[in-house]
Amino acid sequence: MRAPSAPSSTPPCTPSVRRTRSRGPFYHAPVLILISGAAPGPWVVENCALAAENLMLAAYARRLGTCWIGYAQQYLTTEAGKRLLGLPSGCLPVAPLIVGHPTTFPPPTQRREPEIRWVG
Ligand SMILES: Cc1cc2nc3c(=O)[nH]c(=O)nc-3n(C[C@H](O)[C@H](O)[C@H](O)COP(=O)(O)O)c2cc1C
Repeated sequence: MRAPSAPSSTPPCTPSVRRTRSRGPFYHAPVLILISGAAPGPWVVENCALAAENLMLAAYARRLGTCWIGYAQQYLTTEAGKRLLGLPSGCLPVAPLIVGHPTTFPPPTQRREPEIRWVG
């Protein structure tokens, strides 16, 4: 997969797109998309999480695989992590998503029944 080229100067808090070189937590995925929000703000994390889910569903519709890499999250919120991705310090990294071509499409896993409490 060819990684989209990232802009040379990243505007504040737009998704950061990078080729992943690290082998560690990124599973050799060709692309890492980091969804970040302008912080502080009342709904930064919630908005980023919604954007992440939309991105994951859109990727799946194109037969691409994604995984939220929470393992990288803590480092990416440090000044060193932000520098690595060229993020302004006012950006809060929320959702590091790797994107790539899955080798398999496993069937959905079994889910417990949701516990629903009707109120009123
Ligand atoms: C906030 C968050 C962080 C995650 N971090 C990682 C991670 O660091 N490494 C990893 O392999 N998967 C990570 N995952 C993916 C989960 O391990 C799991 O595969 C995913 O939530 C799908 O769940 P399912 O297997 O029950 O369908 C993360 C998921 C979420 C929601």
